[in-house]
Amino acid sequence: MVIPHEDLKKARLLLEAEFGFRRYATFNADYPSVEVMSSHGVRIWLARQPVPNDLPNPEFELLVPPLQPSFVFKKLSAHGGSDSREGRVGQMLYRDLIPGRQGGRFIASHITLSKDEPVKDSVHFHRIRFQMIYGLKGWVRVAYEDEGPEFVMEEGDCVLQPPEIRHQVIDRSPDGAEVIEFCSPAAHWTFYDYDLRLPNSADKLPRDFSGQRFIHHKAAEARWRPWRLRGFESRDLGIKDGSGAMAHAHVVRRSDRFQPAHFSHNGEILFMFVLKGELTLHCEKHPLERFAAAESIVVPGGIRYALVESSNDLEFLEVALPGDLEITRHEGFGS
Ligand SMILES: [Fe+2]
Repeated sequence: MVIPHEDLKKARLLLEAEFGFRRYATFNADYPSVEVMSSHGVRIWLARQPVPNDLPNPEFELLVPPLQPSFVFKKLSAHGGSDSREGRVGQMLYRDLIPGRQGGRFIASHITLSKDEPVKDSVHFHRIRFQMIYGLKGWVRVAYEDEGPEFVMEEGDCVLQPPEIRHQVIDRSPDGAEVIEFCSPAAHWTFYDYDLRLPNSADKLPRDFSGQRFIHHKAAEARWRPWRLRGFESRDLGIKDGSGAMAHAHVVRRSDRFQPAHFSHNGEILFMFVLKGELTLHCEKHPLERFAAAESIVVPGGIRYALVESSNDLEFLEVALPGDLEITRHEGFGS
């Protein structure tokens, strides 16, 4: 039974409070359009009105849409206001970093955890192909299935959440917190696990989740190495290693003077998010574009692009799929 409702959250809260229903599944985490509620073996589908014509399939499958590559950039909103929307957990606001989502294959969100309200997350998991989270501001306390005690993820730390690992956000820094989340596919199911309490193990247990394993990269312990463009250095967030080369992710920072060079890649996506400072990007067939902190870029495969200017304090996150994509340097700098 599908019940359309203008206010999905209100309808869900009513079913929970008055009729003892619990959330079985949510689609999608960044802006729920469907909530599947369950009680005594009965499932009710609540769908945001107007009912989307691409209602997710009732078998709760993982569907990865074909890639529609395009050059995309996302600036901070010019009027200074927020373009964030409330996500699956009310205390978390999602800002979409890849409008169009490359045909639905990728989503990246700048998520703000409210300082005004405590986090009310429960144990849940996602039916996904790839998911990583990078700590941008403040800290979040999290727990992961079979990964030992709960821990605090600090600024600059990163986790690889392998498919269907149970997890829970427990708390955030008193002033609120911000994280970057990168997932494939963009639209996917979240399920709730009411039988598991986290943390569930005193020690880390060796686990494989669809060929991937949990990774917790700590910025404080990271080693910086020369990056592909001289004058920059990077730290490897461990994503390629943990994901079976599904993706790679690095933080890159300016370390010296540099000479611009054009690069291109042969992968599905190369995503950049400016963490600090400013950069100017030249992308083939596009005018020069300047980017500041919290702004992001998608460079599709086969397009030549170059970092032509950067502030001395530039630092950015780079995520690319697949993890072993080839990045080619092109000699001669021009358009
Ligand atoms: Fe989650």
